[in-house]
Amino acid sequence: MSQGGPSFWIETSPDTDYPALPDGVSVDVAVVGAGITGVTAAVLLKRAGKTVALIDSKQIVRGATGYTTAKVTAGHGLSYTKIKDSFGADGARIYAESNLAALERIAQFVEEDGIDCDFERRANYAYAEGAEQVAQVKEEVEVEKAAGLPVSMVTETPLPFEVKAALRMENQAQFHPRKYLLALAATISGDGSHVFEGSPVTHVKHGDPCEVQTEGGVLRARDVILATHLPFLDRGLFFTRAYPHRSYAVAAPLGSAADPEGMYINAGTPTRSIRTLRDGDDVYLQVGGNGHKTGDEEETPKKYDELEEFLREHWPGAGEVRYRWSTQDYMAHDKVPYIGQLRRGSEHLLVATAYSKWGMTNGTVAAMILSDRILGRENAWAGLYDSKRLKPLGTKSFLKENASAGLHFFSDRLARSDRSSVDDLKPGEGGLIRVRGRKTAVYRDEQGTLHAMSPVCQHLYCVVGWNPAERSWDCPCHGSRYAGDGRAIQGPTRKDLKPRKLPDPS
Ligand SMILES: Cc1cc2nc3c(=O)[nH]c(=O)nc-3n(C[C@H](O)[C@H](O)[C@H](O)COP(=O)(O)OP(=O)(O)OC[C@H]3O[C@@H](n4cnc5c(N)ncnc54)[C@H](O)[C@@H]3O)c2cc1C
Ligand code: FES
Repeated sequence: MSQGGPSFWIETSPDTDYPALPDGVSVDVAVVGAGITGVTAAVLLKRAGKTVALIDSKQIVRGATGYTTAKVTAGHGLSYTKIKDSFGADGARIYAESNLAALERIAQFVEEDGIDCDFERRANYAYAEGAEQVAQVKEEVEVEKAAGLPVSMVTETPLPFEVKAALRMENQAQFHPRKYLLALAATISGDGSHVFEGSPVTHVKHGDPCEVQTEGGVLRARDVILATHLPFLDRGLFFTRAYPHRSYAVAAPLGSAADPEGMYINAGTPTRSIRTLRDGDDVYLQVGGNGHKTGDEEETPKKYDELEEFLREHWPGAGEVRYRWSTQDYMAHDKVPYIGQLRRGSEHLLVATAYSKWGMTNGTVAAMILSDRILGRENAWAGLYDSKRLKPLGTKSFLKENASAGLHFFSDRLARSDRSSVDDLKPGEGGLIRVRGRKTAVYRDEQGTLHAMSPVCQHLYCVVGWNPAERSWDCPCHGSRYAGDGRAIQGPTRKDLKPRKLPDPS
């Protein structure tokens, strides 16, 4: 069975070892969450003269940013047609301008700081495999041109298979996200600024100053940015305004196969996302895609197998697959992220979320908008991304995803158990099993030890399901995830699954 593991980025970059947050620290700005959003915001603010504390519950850059595909581009599949439908031509233009500016902001950091992160300029393509997608690609080219992007329609690409048509965007980039962000994060500590790891934030009290609470102590800051992927404070109801979507990636040495000389995504489904990766002189080919809503798919190992088949079919000269990984991102119903206040009245408590799988530039846009706001500078893009906008409420996607969460809440409680007895579980397997009449989440670890828990998600009480490829319990409602033994690892939950006792085998 194919199993996910640490990403290529985690395996080819050093570990970090920052201290935990002690009690009594005061700074101008606390940034909670150290992915691309948090690290970039903290660096921009420190360089503008603020004291900052960047705080992560785990080690830095191990969330979605540590498991991404890391194409750095304003070309986001066929998004602009949809953005124009929701926000007009002006909205599409602002989205294009801000994402291009974010790409150049990243390029500037790389150059000025001399960061060795395999930053390479590449063309970015969105291709149509079938005749039915050609009209969509054509329309997208026109919308993107009007939005000011450097695009053209082509019928030939360096891919080893034919495409019917493709949108080609010039002068985009790819990089190693951890090498880039670990280098930036290393410039934060000192002169009253800090990086803290292993410090889950449990609550933030809005006030003057705000209070950021962790188990180790309280930190005070005038402004707080929640850069935790989805804000864990439910007051902004962002879990109803964005939904979680997982995707998978495999990478193999390029071997004798030809370099595809670009970054690619198809226009149809299932998604196929293609780029090369570098580890020193070694070049790898990465194929990603096969996305689905978190918690909605039982046969997750197959997702890796299908990507591997695609890689083998089109690049037979490539070596054996060495890396398999997956992660999830939050999708905005109208394709535009939410950047701004947590809710009306929370002037000093800011959020950024829902990058719809385009967070390298969108996370950088968020850091630019939020740092400008804290520094009292005008930002011409802020209106488009306003986190308080009501626009997506009532859209088909908003209603569908929230109805689906409601349905899961009831139907998963009534659904049959996965196995009849804990004895059916082999090492590394988990499942929902009736124990003394109660549905129980049970995992048998590699050493054979059984872990039993209540299957009720600690966010808003939906029932979790077993994900065999990642050996995790995933919640289908808003994407909280728990390790096999019930520890909270991702999503809006802040608590572990509640442990249960199994009856004595005798
Ligand atoms: C499979 C896949 C491929 C993708 N490929 C691309 C791509 O090619 N190009 C692109 O632009 N985008 C891509 N994306 C999207 C991009 O990876 C994400 O949008 C982006 O990484 C999100 O960054 P973030 O900073 O918001 O969150 P994260 O990187 O998840 O960072 C959030 C951090 O907050 C911490 N945290 C959470 N809760 C707490 C708490 N209570 N206290 C303290 N810390 C906390 C976490 O530990 C984590 O480190 C992809 C997404 C997926 C799923
Ligand atoms: S993530 Fe919200 S109920 Fe599980």
